[in-house]
Amino acid sequence: MELAAIMNESESIKDWIIDIRRELHRFPELMYEEHRTNALVREKLDELGIEYEFPIAETGVLASIGNGEGPCIALRADMDALPIHETADVDFKSEVDGKMHACGHDCHTAMLLGAAKILSGKEIQGTVKFLFQPAEEGGAGGQKMTNEGALDDPEVERIFGLHVWPRMPTGQVGSRAGSFLAAASFMDIEVRGVGGHAASPHFCTDPVLASSRIIDSLQSIVSRETDPLESAVVSVTAVNGGDAHNVIPESVAIKGTVRSLTMEGLRRLQTRVSEICELVGQANGCEVDVAFPGNDYPPTYNDPGTWDFAKGVAETLIGAENVNELPPVMGGEDFAFYTQKTNGCFVVLGVNNPDKGCVHNVHTPQFKVDEDALPLGAALHVSFALESLNE
Ligand code: NI
Repeated sequence: MELAAIMNESESIKDWIIDIRRELHRFPELMYEEHRTNALVREKLDELGIEYEFPIAETGVLASIGNGEGPCIALRADMDALPIHETADVDFKSEVDGKMHACGHDCHTAMLLGAAKILSGKEIQGTVKFLFQPAEEGGAGGQKMTNEGALDDPEVERIFGLHVWPRMPTGQVGSRAGSFLAAASFMDIEVRGVGGHAASPHFCTDPVLASSRIIDSLQSIVSRETDPLESAVVSVTAVNGGDAHNVIPESVAIKGTVRSLTMEGLRRLQTRVSEICELVGQANGCEVDVAFPGNDYPPTYNDPGTWDFAKGVAETLIGAENVNELPPVMGGEDFAFYTQKTNGCFVVLGVNNPDKGCVHNVHTPQFKVDEDALPLGAALHVSFALESLNE
């Protein structure tokens, strides 16, 4: 099938894709609570006559089509929303207080359904799997999907994922070979001293001062210990302790994140955070506990051959001038769990359009997507799958 024909077909179901996206947008659900979302996904798959496995990874859906006589290609979308109260000016605003599709996973799900709709009418020599995964935002849904066999039987040879990208104009895509997104970990630091009257600091051990010294010292991990040509992040994002003018608190809680483009780099940052917290705490008479809670995300690594392939497909679809080689980004993404197991490529899709006010970044309450980009996303999924099977 000609790639231009796929693009036309995708444009012809644009309203169908947008309707699904808006429905999902109005009813966002957080990680592992995507019940209404997976019900909608299953309803659409039923309408299309596509078979699926449910549940997988608690609230995920794994669909597949094809005759099985050939390679197996996987296409992935994430489905979860964020605990953000929406302020974007759209008339399909979130109807759930404090929850919002602020990372565009509603678009990802709708585009993948669009791809399923287009592919459902075709002869597939091989297998195409559709991974509708839960819990990308910190819940490692991708890891759970992988552990529960989403990439096995038949074994996936290549996987593709798309993410809407508010820093790139509608009509363009981009990615890179190698590490594209960072390995990421959260950190929790508890600094315990001896509280008391602020007028008698000599009877106390002040965890506030110790915390400030810890935060200050952590900054030297990147500035003094990391190769300037290597990428690393140590960010302290929350400090909570005490609530009176005249009381030295018992303890202070610090939160933050560490990131690197390699797993070894991430481990090094974690080790140094632990060492510095312990020793600076000791020097200030405080006890310090450090934890890296939740799931460490590996770096999202694009197999160079798969990006080369995806780039070629995208160039044919939209012209080389609209396909960008991008620098790495220090955000994390659990697509990484798939590319640890098989070759894959994570591609970003431009949704920036100042004329429509689509300029705000993901994870902000004002985040707004230019929906004109969605047919291109569905067409890319379809093209990645069909061209891979043709290779
Ligand atoms: Ni996201």
